[in-house]
Amino acid sequence: MDIIPEKLKRNELERSMEKLKVAFDSIVYARCSKCQEEWQDSSLINGICEECIEKERYKKGKRFDNFKVTSSNKKAYTMADVFPNNDRGLYLWGGTGTGKSHLAQAVYNVLKKKTTDILYCNTPELLCEIRSSFNKLSSHTEKDLVDFYSEQDYLILDDFGAEKVSDYTIQTLYLIIDKMLRYGNNKILITSNLSLKVISNKMSDRIASRISEMCDIVYTGKNDWRLKLTK
Ligand SMILES: Nc1ncnc2c1ncn2[C@@H]1O[C@H](COP(=O)(O)OP(=O)(O)OP(=O)(O)O)[C@@H](O)[C@H]1O
Ligand SMILES: [Mg+2]
Ligand SMILES: [Zn+2]
Repeated sequence: MDIIPEKLKRNELERSMEKLKVAFDSIVYARCSKCQEEWQDSSLINGICEECIEKERYKKGKRFDNFKVTSSNKKAYTMADVFPNNDRGLYLWGGTGTGKSHLAQAVYNVLKKKTTDILYCNTPELLCEIRSSFNKLSSHTEKDLVDFYSEQDYLILDDFGAEKVSDYTIQTLYLIIDKMLRYGNNKILITSNLSLKVISNKMSDRIASRISEMCDIVYTGKNDWRLKLTK
């Protein structure tokens, strides 16, 4: 039986490593223009990653013309409808399934046609993303990301208050909201299951105070459409 000398084994290993390195080096990465993450260039479609395209597809179905207006959501509908054209923010809060995300997505779809300077974020996901910037390998710092979110012309924070409250979440949301307010941009649309009073007690009175300065506050009621849809 041939015994492979130690040296040869090592060379073979080196050759395989070389091949792998060449393969890795030939992969070109590019940044998705929406989530700012790096992806293999060939997987981006018009500069956007598949994850973001999927999210867009989901949002497309939610529009003002397929939102049924009732007495309990009329105010929310009207305020969401005028949101793109006034200089106030909007805080929609109410029970689960009352159409908050639907309206936020409808606003997004209207604004998306006018500007690229708009971001729609699920708040727990946004916090997760910023937290991952603490990782030494991340190409962004926490400050980069906070600036990126707060410098949008329009920022939609869906499911605000659904994240686990911690010093980190309070500090990060405070930084984003405070910066928008300081720069004179009120164009934030927030949806939440929590009243501002609860945000003030559970999270931070300083965040609640700033939201109330920037936003009109509208209650969306407690009629769960998801239950209606499954009947
Ligand atoms: N007025 C409405 N007309 C038509 N569909 C609606 C209406 N309100 C809600 N829906 C539909 O019901 C479902 C739940 O609504 P949505 O996701 O907007 O609720 P939500 O208030 O964001 O709930 P949660 O607090 O759980 O996030 C969605 O499919 C939405 O399109
Ligand atoms: Mg929602
Ligand atoms: Zn993306």
